[in-house]
Amino acid sequence: MKKIGILFGQERSFPMAFIERVNSKGIENIVAEPVRIDKSAQGLNSGYAVIIDRISQDVPFYRAILKNEALTGTAVINNPFWWSADDKYFNNSLMTQIGVPVPKTVILPSYDLPTDTKPESFSNLAYPLAWDEIFAYVGFPAYMKPYAGGGWKSVYKLHDKEEFYQKHGETEQLVMLLQEEIVFEEYYRCYCIGGKHVRIMPYEPRNPHHLRYQAEFSPSPERLRLMEDIVLRINHYLGYDFNTVELAVKDGVPYAIDFGNPAPDAERAGVGEENFEWVVETAANYAIERAVAQKEGQSNLTWGEYIKRSATGVPLI
Ligand SMILES: Nc1ncnc2c1ncn2[C@@H]1O[C@H](COP(=O)(O)OP(=O)(O)O)[C@@H](O)[C@H]1O
Ligand SMILES: [Mg+2]
Repeated sequence: MKKIGILFGQERSFPMAFIERVNSKGIENIVAEPVRIDKSAQGLNSGYAVIIDRISQDVPFYRAILKNEALTGTAVINNPFWWSADDKYFNNSLMTQIGVPVPKTVILPSYDLPTDTKPESFSNLAYPLAWDEIFAYVGFPAYMKPYAGGGWKSVYKLHDKEEFYQKHGETEQLVMLLQEEIVFEEYYRCYCIGGKHVRIMPYEPRNPHHLRYQAEFSPSPERLRLMEDIVLRINHYLGYDFNTVELAVKDGVPYAIDFGNPAPDAERAGVGEENFEWVVETAANYAIERAVAQKEGQSNLTWGEYIKRSATGVPLI
């Protein structure tokens, strides 16, 4: 019997629907259930062929356990090593090397000193930074957001440098990105599961939260293909199994805005019934596929092209 487990936090609709969907398929030797942890000891595996992780981005204890599970043969979705290593700045930089359009972006030192550092810790940093060059490159309005963040937390739209200085002064120890605003005609949130199944969802971020998926954008077949290619390319290079990519389309060019989400929102009330059904069905089929392919005693993780090519000395593109 191969077990598929799901590890989750406060969400309720997706985990239960996922478990029911896998089990309702009646596949011989495959069963899905909530992960149950009553202990974890180094080097021991708890018996799941696959674990879908929906929460370890918020729970370091779980993330450490998942690395141990991965080491000892579990196919963990998403690879906890990969998304422990990536961040929005790196991901944007990688996109500039593989032909995916991204907004112009710079990274800024935190406004407050990191705990246990002093001004002398920053001997390599110029004071002041080359602010005029930075502002000329990014332009205003601009977005400022944490280099590793999510859930719209500490995301600012800034209109001029005075507003920038004021808001940056509120960000404490967060390391922020300053980013060109993409003034978009259309916006899409795109699920990508298994590096192959893509669902492009019109999304209007300027609507109130509960109406964001009620967007009227209807892309041409060419634009859909273009967006699908970009979504697949991003996910192949980063190595996410289960991710969403936000694309802002300006002058017909889809810019990648937010594309490294280890546990993208999948709640029924959030994404709407049809998208929910797609995510449940696609995730269930993909988890079964990974359970069938899982081999005991070896790594069963997905590694993206960036890692694979870097480790084997193959050019990035
Ligand atoms: N460069 C940008 N241009 C236009 N809109 C942006 C840009 N960056 C962020 N936004 C808007 O802010 C929202 C939140 O930013 P995002 O990068 O998705 O952060 P989070 O990871 O917290 O969701 C996006 O959904 C989008 O509506
Ligand atoms: Mg986002």
